[in-house]
Amino acid sequence: MLRLIPLSTLLLITSASILPLSERSPLPLIIWHGLGDNYDADGLKSVGDLANETNPGTFVYNIRLDEDPGSDRTATFFGNITLQIAQVCEDLASHPILSTAPAVNALGFSQGGQFLRGYIERCNLPPVRNLITFGSQHNGIAKYQTCGAADWVCKGAMALLRTNTWSDYVQSHLVPAQYFRSTNASTGEPSSEYLEHSNFLADINNEREGKNATYAENLASLDNFIMYVFEDDTTVIPKESGWFAQTNLTSGDVTDLRDRTIYKEDWIGLKKLDEKGGLVFKTTEGGHMQLNDKELVYLFKTYFAPPKAAWEVVGEVLQEIVEL
Ligand SMILES: *[C@@H]1O[C@H](CO)[C@@H](O)[C@H](O)[C@H]1NC(C)=O
Ligand SMILES: *[C@@H]1O[C@H](CO)[C@@H](O)[C@H](O)[C@H]1NC(C)=O
Ligand SMILES: *[C@@H]1O[C@H](CO)[C@@H](O)[C@H](O)[C@H]1NC(C)=O
Ligand SMILES: *[C@@H]1O[C@H](CO)[C@@H](O)[C@H](O)[C@H]1NC(C)=O
Ligand SMILES: *[C@@H]1O[C@H](CO)[C@@H](O)[C@H](O)[C@H]1NC(C)=O
Repeated sequence: MLRLIPLSTLLLITSASILPLSERSPLPLIIWHGLGDNYDADGLKSVGDLANETNPGTFVYNIRLDEDPGSDRTATFFGNITLQIAQVCEDLASHPILSTAPAVNALGFSQGGQFLRGYIERCNLPPVRNLITFGSQHNGIAKYQTCGAADWVCKGAMALLRTNTWSDYVQSHLVPAQYFRSTNASTGEPSSEYLEHSNFLADINNEREGKNATYAENLASLDNFIMYVFEDDTTVIPKESGWFAQTNLTSGDVTDLRDRTIYKEDWIGLKKLDEKGGLVFKTTEGGHMQLNDKELVYLFKTYFAPPKAAWEVVGEVLQEIVEL
């Protein structure tokens, strides 16, 4: 039976942009892996493949600090994050494909999430359009994680960490120390050692007197910042760090980001981003880094899909009419 096409449908068809092909291909995706992982690992590859399957033609680049996977893994424990981020900035800005893209999307796993945020705040060239972080330590950690039984690189790092987190040596050589955040138990304010010596987190969160306005501008320029916390995360202490929340470890009370000064005074642009609807708080089932494909596909479809071509919109509308 022939049906009249409603006006709204016609409007939808005519308003669908007729973009040239290049603007319809998905943006490249950069992925920064977590502590103890490496850029060449199978798990990371399958995430990249899933992104390409979901949005065909997605160019995926796994961030690395060394072409040798073993050395890249070691760099997740040892190194100066300031220098590591500077190196990644150079790598991306000189990459033949990434540097010519209008923008990229970014996916950060665990500590890779706050390091991508560091990339955005400090460099952002190529600019990131959507940032997704899983189980990241945006408000730092209050405890160091335990190492696998036979993970000697991890054990070596942790042994050094316990000596003196705030020494300049540790702050410039041991990665997790650079996002360790200690607070005064009675006031909840960051400790003076942290404010004075933190090589990474206190700076990137603009917690010191002198705030860097570029950091806030760059982060607020994102379309979306989607932050995942794993419901049963026992590796990141406290897990609510993944949402920039502050947790009282004695009482378990959580102060949400929106009730914290970093948000209210908008030190890093999160309030601005939130006001335009770009700040997304999500949870996912399971322990630290227990990713599920369904969630990833949903994310890739929702945030990483290229704008639709007119013919695709027409096709979908026609299909709907047929199904009516
Ligand atoms: C994406 O998938 C296509 C089709 O399977 C393949 O030819 C291409 O090499 C993949 N691209 C990347 C970056 O993996
Ligand atoms: C703020 O950060 C930008 C980007 O990293 C840097 O170029 C600039 O020197 C910083 N400004 C201050 C005052 O530290
Ligand atoms: C680590 O980075 C900080 C900040 O740029 C710098 O002051 C310090 O000298 C670096 N440490 C080493 C060992 O390079
Ligand atoms: C915590 O803050 C209170 C109140 O400002 C102060 O008296 C105390 O010395 C601080 N404790 C530490 C360990 O810095
Ligand atoms: C944390 O909780 C404990 C126990 O309820 C309480 O005594 C302490 O004052 C709280 N600290 C802050 C900063 O709220």
